[in-house]
Amino acid sequence: MSQRSCLSVILAAGEGTRMKSAMPKVLHAIAGLPMVAHVVKAAEAAGATGLALVIGHGADEMRKAVQKFAPKAETFVQEKRLGTAHAVLAAREAIAKGYDDILVMFGDTPLIDAAALAAARQKLAEGAAVAVIGFRPPNPTGYGRLIEKGGRLVAIREEKDCSEAEKKIGFCNAGMMAVAGNQALRLLDKVGNNNAKGEFYLTDIVELAGADGLDVVATEASFESALGINNRAELAEAEAIWQARQRREAMLAGVTLIAPETVYFSHDTEIGADTIVEPHVWFGPGVKIASGAKIHAFSHIEGATIASNCDVGPFARLRPGADLRQKAKVGNFCEVKQATIEEGAKVNHLTYIGDARVGAGANIGAGTITCNYDGFSKFFTDIGEGAFVGSNSALVAPVTIGKGGYIASGSVITESVPDDALAFGRARQKTLPRKGKELRERFASAAAAKKRAAE
Ligand code: UD1
Ligand code: MG
Repeated sequence: MSQRSCLSVILAAGEGTRMKSAMPKVLHAIAGLPMVAHVVKAAEAAGATGLALVIGHGADEMRKAVQKFAPKAETFVQEKRLGTAHAVLAAREAIAKGYDDILVMFGDTPLIDAAALAAARQKLAEGAAVAVIGFRPPNPTGYGRLIEKGGRLVAIREEKDCSEAEKKIGFCNAGMMAVAGNQALRLLDKVGNNNAKGEFYLTDIVELAGADGLDVVATEASFESALGINNRAELAEAEAIWQARQRREAMLAGVTLIAPETVYFSHDTEIGADTIVEPHVWFGPGVKIASGAKIHAFSHIEGATIASNCDVGPFARLRPGADLRQKAKVGNFCEVKQATIEEGAKVNHLTYIGDARVGAGANIGAGTITCNYDGFSKFFTDIGEGAFVGSNSALVAPVTIGKGGYIASGSVITESVPDDALAFGRARQKTLPRKGKELRERFASAAAAKKRAAE
């Protein structure tokens, strides 16, 4: 089958009024990626070599977004929404290029899996002209019903056009189908709009192909993979299903999730085997974690790379550009942004490291802040290998702490510190013997005199 060329036509012209959103429905994200991008991913995984997106509502915004997640896709505008067959025909130019398989998909069905699409394409490879993806929803109301006879699909009847007997059929149209490229335009051009909604139904090609003596079949996908999103409650439902799939996949790949239902992945999260993720951890886009790391509870991580055997959190925030090398430690209430924490370095408590390098084996004391921003520009802090930064230090960038440099706690460091030097950036301590006791006595007698005067 791999030799067969395939065009995926993704319908996404709908308004999605029930989302109650200024943004086109299919751009709402699941795991940080627009739902239509999930559909594109599935199409590609099922071997689609061409992509045609049919857009309408919010066309400009859609084009911009498509540029990001599917730069090679062609977009076609369906000016008036006259039905799913009419929508597919908006991509006529692409279909006419002569692909072996046309895979019609919906932009609002983000959980569709590549296997279900590949199964439909396989039927075309075996000689079918149309292979419709069916599913069995718990409640079939609203879906087109698949009417089969002797293992063949004879018709798809929309709910509104169904007889009472047909309404009892549980096998429904998921909406997606594979159509032989050499039949697609001929069949689509024959579709009329003589039905309850007065729309040009894609589903009519089933009967039209049958009438021509062509082979039409149905395949079956899981209910979840055919879940269509119409409102934000369904969006959350799809998110939950996606997350559950991903957690399971991570665990089967060797990642320990102590409370999997509390860990949230992004569409591109990568975690190596033998990494342990404690409860309530959130991964934003762009996270890569190697093996044997520990991510402690309540950590918030995005755009970060974490090498093997690192220790992160609890309550750590790793922002984009955080790059933790082997055995680095970033502890509680620490934030790291655009900074490399080299091998074995420790940033253990209440610290901000931004636009910086922390050299291998360096130790950053509690409450250290890299002052990287003057309100206008960002500056770099370079902390050398094996340096020791005492607690509550402010490192005012741009500044360099040399290899093995030692910063006294409470310092405000505004000048670079050479290798192995000791730097104090604070007032020297003064200690006055017995002065504490004297002071206490003076205050006590003053308070007593005030009390007497008031009586
Ligand atoms: C469709 C199917 C139905 C199936 C159901 C599964 C048809 C005629 N019916 O019905 O059998 O059970 O999906 O969810 O195909 N779209 C356009 N332009 C149009 C019309 C639709 O781009 O002119 C897009 C929509 O944005 C959407 C998809 O096509 O992504 C499906 O359209 P929708 O109106 O939701 O079809 P259903 O009535 O749900
Ligand atoms: Mg629908």
